[in-house]
Amino acid sequence: MPDLIRIAPSILAADLLHLQDQVQMALHCGADELHVDVMDGHFVPNLSNGPDVVKALRKGFPNAWLDVHLMLSAPEKYLETFAQAGASGLTVHAEAIESPAVLRRIRELGMEPGLSLKPATPVSAVSAFLPLAERVLLMTVEPGFGGQKLMYFCAEKARELRALGYTGRISCDGGVTFENARELAALGIDTLVMGTAFFRAEDPQAVADMVHSL
Ligand code: DX5
Ligand code: ZN
Repeated sequence: MPDLIRIAPSILAADLLHLQDQVQMALHCGADELHVDVMDGHFVPNLSNGPDVVKALRKGFPNAWLDVHLMLSAPEKYLETFAQAGASGLTVHAEAIESPAVLRRIRELGMEPGLSLKPATPVSAVSAFLPLAERVLLMTVEPGFGGQKLMYFCAEKARELRALGYTGRISCDGGVTFENARELAALGIDTLVMGTAFFRAEDPQAVADMVHSL
């Protein structure tokens, strides 16, 4: 397990008119990865960020770790597209895939495979997928929108995963704040996705520093 807790600013909450400046600022603050939410209006009731956004970020920031979170009903159709666009990690939803082959394919394409769980999905339902997932992304809100309140019971799945011996990364996504970051890290979560709490903060540097001090 990595030592430092990582911060992954979610560009969903960035000022899109100034995306380049916003990403530059996030990286300057020490962002360990950039979280890019891709929504299809079907798996979740919202639309966001297609592959061209990933491509533009890759072009502008060749060394950034781009953590792409696919909230899609049929993620298997787009794996090659996001690999070509330059994703570093590709996270699919357990509720949207039928077989672990999707995770295997993500790895074959040179990306880090991640598995995301919606709030209602228990750890017990995904045990067949875990050995192939280098990361588990625990949704701590219903996926689709930024700015919601974190549901603590979702984050507690991290403790269960660690108890099962899961040694990959565990990220937590939705409603992560300056105030709750410490207790999330204590559960065994090593990567904190932060949209609103980072990009809308008065002092994003202080937020990143706090996460790195946990
Ligand atoms: C929500 C997205 C999140 C979102 C989090 O469905 O998956 O990544 O950006 O936003 P905050 O941190 O504002 O809850
Ligand atoms: Zn996300």
